[in-house]
Amino acid sequence: MNTVTKVRLTTAVKTNASLYKQVEDAFDMLKSNLNIKDVCIVERKKLTITQLFAVDQSPVIVFLSNGPKLYFSPRVPIYFHLDTTKVKINMQKENNQPILIDMLNHIQHPQQSFHFVDGTMGFGRDSYLVLNSFPNVVVYSIEQNPLIHFVISEGMKRALTEDVLKRIYFINDDYNHWIKRNSEKVNILYLDHMFEETMNPDDRMGELSKHINSNKCMDLSNSYETLILKAHYKSPLFKQFNVFQCIRKSSKTHYGLRRNKRKNSSLI
Ligand SMILES: C[S@@+](CC[C@H](N)C(=O)[O-])C[C@H]1O[C@@H](n2cnc3c(N)ncnc32)[C@H](O)[C@@H]1O
Repeated sequence: MNTVTKVRLTTAVKTNASLYKQVEDAFDMLKSNLNIKDVCIVERKKLTITQLFAVDQSPVIVFLSNGPKLYFSPRVPIYFHLDTTKVKINMQKENNQPILIDMLNHIQHPQQSFHFVDGTMGFGRDSYLVLNSFPNVVVYSIEQNPLIHFVISEGMKRALTEDVLKRIYFINDDYNHWIKRNSEKVNILYLDHMFEETMNPDDRMGELSKHINSNKCMDLSNSYETLILKAHYKSPLFKQFNVFQCIRKSSKTHYGLRRNKRKNSSLI
């Protein structure tokens, strides 16, 4: 679990009552998170993001009319954005399924109800894609970093309809711990620790990778029915999780699959 020493909250330069209210609500919410030591509200005045960082290096969440943005540094903000997911959704319309969805389609019927645990929410794109592709899925989206958890879940809440929101739970925890406590909920566990897909330090994924603590993986082998792992083809995780690595010669991103025969399984 990541801990945060301090976070500052502020509004866009052009502010209004609604943005102030969002800052106050976020203050109350983040203050009650035991993994954040200090939360403070700063007046934006006309300060640029660079000027905000000149006086204090701690992360800032800026509340804008289109959702909150998290800055660990003045350069690249982290926020929920559909970007590549939109492309994948358009490809689906032409019956071209993204690999994760294709794998899920082989595991169970598209209309079937099942629990999908996204242990590494990050930008939330895979959680969004699964929610969008399976009308009866329930998604548990877990993120260990309290600030990333906050901005991405708040951003996603704006992008999802009320009905779809009923099918997703946002959880700020280390997936190892959450899964040990909730193994009965885990039909499919999905893990994507992979940052290698973008080596560009100047984009959002590069920025995210700089602010994440890596942690040890526990033995979760009895805690799920199916594990889908996405990782760099050379990643030691395939061995560590004892998954079958599906080779894709043209890509550095490989997927792995492991199925357990658990009692009372609804999927096997
Ligand atoms: C590569 S990103 C995932 C990207 C994501 N699949 C998407 O669609 O945007 C990995 C994320 O997993 C989180 N993470 C890594 N280890 C974790 C753990 N043990 N528990 C919860 N989250 C974890 C990191 O903080 C990071 O935000």
